[in-house]
Amino acid sequence: MTATDVVAEPDLPASDGSWAVETRGLAKRFGSNVAVNGVDLLIPRGCAFGYLGPNGAGKTTLIRVLLGLTRADAGTMSLLGYSVPRHRDKALARVGAIVDEPRFHGHLTGRQNLQLLAAAREPAARGRIDASLDRVEILRRADDRVSKYSMGMRQRLGVAACLIGDPELLILDEPMNGLDPAGMHDMRDMIRSLVAEGRTVVLSSHLLDEVQRTCDAVAIVDRGNIIRQGPISELLAGTSLTLQVDCSDPDRARSLLAGTNLGAAIDVEAGGLAITLPADTTRDVIAEVARVLVTGGIAVYRLQPVQASLESWFLQVTSRLGDPA
Ligand SMILES: Nc1ncnc2c1ncn2[C@@H]1O[C@H](COP(=O)(O)OP(=O)(O)O)[C@@H](O)[C@H]1O
Ligand SMILES: [Mg+2]
Repeated sequence: MTATDVVAEPDLPASDGSWAVETRGLAKRFGSNVAVNGVDLLIPRGCAFGYLGPNGAGKTTLIRVLLGLTRADAGTMSLLGYSVPRHRDKALARVGAIVDEPRFHGHLTGRQNLQLLAAAREPAARGRIDASLDRVEILRRADDRVSKYSMGMRQRLGVAACLIGDPELLILDEPMNGLDPAGMHDMRDMIRSLVAEGRTVVLSSHLLDEVQRTCDAVAIVDRGNIIRQGPISELLAGTSLTLQVDCSDPDRARSLLAGTNLGAAIDVEAGGLAITLPADTTRDVIAEVARVLVTGGIAVYRLQPVQASLESWFLQVTSRLGDPA
């Protein structure tokens, strides 16, 4: 297949370009295996967006379809308002992407690798090489061979390779893969700073926690289907709040609360209680818990509300997380 293959599709209705990525009914099959199944994706500009799902969910395939590296079987898509594949070249001039792992020539230096890539881009790209290397903090190692680079440095070089095109949109496939905790932390900061510059960063990940920490909005994908998408804060609305209570005599504390109309699920834990409350629980309810316990003669050492993480929310909506597809 070549990059110029055209998907048989109607043209998108005139788009105002307000979405960084817009897909409708996008599908990609491998034989009977549906890797991308009727995906409707709306990614706002200027945010970090996580495409989150377990291994085999179809994340890389979606990215490859978006970039025209493989052909969709059905559906329409646009990048930065450009319908693709029809206007793929115009769109990709504004996009930087890393698919799977960034691949470089190991016997060449970081700088030489970027020079090769710049040669295939617009003339201005060459002039951005040093600034891009500096931006990802590997300028100091720019003249070392890439074979000497750690995984973290290769990921950084991958981002630098994106930046030589001064992209509006970066698409990073599993950018945290192979990074140690410090490397993940740096990558997260880098992504946030790219967003602070007004760019849009789309990243795929199977690491729920990383997506929650890094991204403003998310689509959760499982077996090619998007289960939910939206701002992380909205996805969390409607999930539960756990009130952790460290106290004396947890068993008696539990029966005291069971006699109230708090309507909560109460688990006894070592040294206290975990009380599951609706997400919209007010502070007054928490005060009421404290009052019931203290007037009942229970010593309360700590009372802490914990919002359910996206991870526990995800586990609620699909119990198959991490299962092989
Ligand atoms: N080139 C290919 N040929 C056949 N099957 C593929 C190919 N690429 C991916 N798949 C299958 O498509 C599904 C989605 O894969 P992939 O997009 O790589 O998932 P993810 O990136 O979420 O781990 C998997 O079942 C995978 O085996
Ligand atoms: Mg993948």
